Amino acid sequence: MDFDVIVIGSGPGGYVAAIRAAQLGKKVAIIEKYDVLGGTCLNVGCIPSKTLLDSSEHYHNAAYHFAEHGIKINTPKVDLKTMIGRKNDVVTKMNNGVEFLMKKNKIKVFNGFGSFVDKNTVKIAKNDGSEEQIKGTNIIIATGSKPMILPFMNYDGKRIITSTEALNLSEIPKNLLVIGAGVIGAELGSVYARLGSKVTFIEFAGGMIPTMDATLGKELQKVLKKQHGAEFNFNTKVTNISNTGKEVEVTAENSKGETVTFSGDYCLVSIGRRAYTDNLNLDAVGITPNKRGMIEVNDHTLETSVPGIYAIGDIIRGAMLAHKAEEEGVLVAETIVGQKPHIHYNLIPGVVYTWPEVASVGATEEELKASGRAYKKGQFPYKALGRAVASGDTDGLVKVLADKETDEVLGVHIIGARAADMIAEGVTAMEFRASAEDLGRISHAHPTYMEAVKEAALAATDNRSIHS
Ligand code: FAD
Ligand code: NAI
Repeated sequence: MDFDVIVIGSGPGGYVAAIRAAQLGKKVAIIEKYDVLGGTCLNVGCIPSKTLLDSSEHYHNAAYHFAEHGIKINTPKVDLKTMIGRKNDVVTKMNNGVEFLMKKNKIKVFNGFGSFVDKNTVKIAKNDGSEEQIKGTNIIIATGSKPMILPFMNYDGKRIITSTEALNLSEIPKNLLVIGAGVIGAELGSVYARLGSKVTFIEFAGGMIPTMDATLGKELQKVLKKQHGAEFNFNTKVTNISNTGKEVEVTAENSKGETVTFSGDYCLVSIGRRAYTDNLNLDAVGITPNKRGMIEVNDHTLETSVPGIYAIGDIIRGAMLAHKAEEEGVLVAETIVGQKPHIHYNLIPGVVYTWPEVASVGATEEELKASGRAYKKGQFPYKALGRAVASGDTDGLVKVLADKETDEVLGVHIIGARAADMIAEGVTAMEFRASAEDLGRISHAHPTYMEAVKEAALAATDNRSIHS
């Protein structure tokens, strides 16, 4: 064999698997079809979207909030070209970082399209037209996902766009129609709403970010309406999108079965992502993706039906999140060397990087109700928090859910400033199976946003929040 481990795909799942396998003494190769490493997350996902979220938030604060802090400036203007250019620079820095890590860990990088020849052989179709075959004892498929687009959505990449194009627009849309008020819709809708677009959400489900605890979606909707005048159309199923040349028209069916239409200059389609296994030649090894296009794996080892071939990240079941893919990369590398790692999938946090941020771990209140498990709830509003009042970020709340009998924390749900970082406390508490009282008895520095977690935990313990 040429390598102990061959990884196909260099996203957060693939490159982390490669590094961990190299750390464990394995000879590793990674194959990436693009010239740059880092996958969706680094190139057209997490990093560029957070960069634009940060830039647009700076603009929005300068335009609307500096004055209330007693800072007077001339009316700020958006220079979209510079903003997008800075985003590209950030991505390039991170690309170079991953390349450095590959060198540091002596991982052999192949740029080209990987496909199976047999269970130990991968063909690489290189970008210069040449081909090479390499052999490996273990192969990890980490080929990720692509935006989902339905045929009637008439995607053209110009006016009817996905997140990929939305990260590279050359003008700010006047009227942005957002199909799907899930994570991408909420984040990229926020970017353009802050920069001045009128944003209209058209969503199939009954509320925003519908897979999260319903309290969060309701609060986020309220804030986006208040901050930016965003409009929401729930229980509305899009049936057609067309670019008429002058504008984009969306036809949908509302909850009463009536046909409704919307028009705008751009339409962002953010209705989910599909697993990407195109042209991998999985037939050659006898792997057939399931109905959802995903590769089936053994829940404990992430091995496919073929011994020695593993799959991780967005191409397998579970949340399509970078940190979930990373944990799986580590798990597979450690499994290959005979260790017995484990992932608590229930404790993978989910974050939406709007402002206020939204973050969640564990069971939602809706899930607990549906399962019939008796639970207690403690909630604490940001407006009662000294730090939030000081900064002016008083929108939001923390909700802690705990078992009614044992007091074990079952879920933590936050919407508010810095929720993305705060959720780590909920994850840690749940990893160690803490009770709400444990959380409530831990000293939290004052004045911090984190005090809201303590207060919500105290409220869940025995309704003994001090400040509400
Ligand atoms: P990917 O990152 O998709 O990487 C797969 C790689 O494999 C790609 O580089 C692809 O080119 C390569 N590849 C595919 N087929 C082949 C082949 N045959 N040969 C060679 N190479 C191949 N997640 C978060 O946790 N936090 C966020 O803030 C976040 N923000 C996001 C924002 C946006 C706009 C989007 C679209 C996604 C976001 N995500 C976020 C999701 C995150 O990007 C994915 O969950 C993550 O990238 C999945 O990692 P992966 O390694 O499974 O696959
Ligand atoms: P999503 O699953 O979060 O949201 C898609 C939304 O579209 C759903 O609410 C769904 O009800 C709606 N929808 C589906 N079909 C529709 C139709 N015909 N008409 C109207 N609405 C329709 O998917 P999204 O936002 O595209 O993101 C894809 C994935 O990328 C997410 O699952 C997430 O895991 C990942 N991601 C993560 C981020 C983060 O962690 N901060 C940021 C961005 C993406």
